[in-house]
Amino acid sequence: MTVFKRLLPRSLFGRWLVLLVAPVVVLQALLTYIFYERHWDAVTRRLGLGLAGEISVVIATRENNSDPAVLADLMWQMDRALEIDITFEPDRDFPANIPAPRRYSILDRMLAQALSERVSQPYMIDTQRNDRTVVIYVKLPDALMTVTAPENRIFSTSTYAFVLWMAAASVVLLGIAVLFLRNQIKPIRRLAEAADAFGKGRDIADFRPAGAEEVRAASRAFLAMRDRIRRHIRERTEMLAGVSHDLRTPLTRMKLQLSMMPADPEVDELKRDIDEMEKMVGAYLAFARGQSEQPAEPTDLGNLIAELADDVRRRGRELQIDIESNLTLPLRRLSFKRALSNLIENGLRFGRRVQLSVTRMANRVEIRIEDDGPGLPEKERHKVFRPFYRLDQARHGSGNVGLGLTIARDAVLAHGGEIALGQSPMGGLMVTIRLPV
Ligand SMILES: Nc1ncnc2c1ncn2[C@@H]1O[C@H](COP(=O)(O)OP(=O)(O)OP(=O)(O)O)[C@@H](O)[C@H]1O
Ligand SMILES: [Mg+2]
Repeated sequence: MTVFKRLLPRSLFGRWLVLLVAPVVVLQALLTYIFYERHWDAVTRRLGLGLAGEISVVIATRENNSDPAVLADLMWQMDRALEIDITFEPDRDFPANIPAPRRYSILDRMLAQALSERVSQPYMIDTQRNDRTVVIYVKLPDALMTVTAPENRIFSTSTYAFVLWMAAASVVLLGIAVLFLRNQIKPIRRLAEAADAFGKGRDIADFRPAGAEEVRAASRAFLAMRDRIRRHIRERTEMLAGVSHDLRTPLTRMKLQLSMMPADPEVDELKRDIDEMEKMVGAYLAFARGQSEQPAEPTDLGNLIAELADDVRRRGRELQIDIESNLTLPLRRLSFKRALSNLIENGLRFGRRVQLSVTRMANRVEIRIEDDGPGLPEKERHKVFRPFYRLDQARHGSGNVGLGLTIARDAVLAHGGEIALGQSPMGGLMVTIRLPV
């Protein structure tokens, strides 16, 4: 069973093709075997016996009738009615250059058998001539008898035609099957691609459910599911955006009121708290906004990264940059810049040195952001992408809410890319972003 499974093609197209073609091939092989082995053997034997019988009649007539006129008349009749040319050459032996009979030739085998049955004199057969004739030599006591007969007198060529027709028919059948299957598979493949793209957070265009009823039902169900998920996400982000936005106004008011109060350690502490809350509200808003973004435009990646490096320098830190060549990619500039800046921000917070490198591959661009901080243990690497997830949950007062990586991943996926966390040779975390080009 496992062998069978391994032999079966992996794609649906391949499997259906096997399902369609295998029975036809088996049937044809069976038919060909029956026809070739049984029928063709029998026909060739019949024809061979016929010719051998005619030869033996001629030999007997010649023995019993010494009248040359009778014999000449018989020869003439044979030639006219049966297309067999017979000559007698007195005291001649077998010619020397007769090829040996072919072992696997039905014609050779059957003719030899028939001659052994019907003719008692020694004989030799030459079936390998190029003029579509077969020559049989029979050694008579006083002469060599040479019989030349057309090949089709003793050999049916319709079997070749039969096999050829069958092969041609199956090729046509295969062609039709391939065309038909292609059309059946297309909607399934499209559904799989759409589901895959949607699962990766990419935007998918509407597609019309097509194909067989079952496939159409699956497509419709998928589209309904997609709409529901979209609505769900939209409602959630709208709510988050609304709350964050509404909180900003009272926060600004509080800040203003505090700035008018006399200097006091307690007031300073309040100011710090409000700053932190503003940062957090800003992060929520950024997350909520990330979902509804502008379309991608050709963007110079080097330029964008230089801007990021400037921002870092303004804060008195350094970003090491390693870019191979200048690259222009279709990017949603704001969201992609925010993604990179979130990652750089993390690196600066956890490490002393942060490096950003860009490598151009055959069909993608790889962006790596590495630091020399403590890194992340393997089992934490997929958790940190969750919204509001932080390793140091207990440590408050930093204004970090745990959305940085979530926002970065959403942005990368929306660009059709991938993001992965790993261990950097620098010692800390390595974030790898792969973008298709
Ligand atoms: N470069 C890094 N080195 C070590 N740990 C990291 C690194 N980057 C992120 N982490 C861990 O992953 C967690 C989630 O990161 P994320 O950027 O999503 O949130 P945050 O930095 O805590 O908050 P925010 O980015 O929203 O201000 C962090 O709290 C931290 O524990
Ligand atoms: Mg962060």
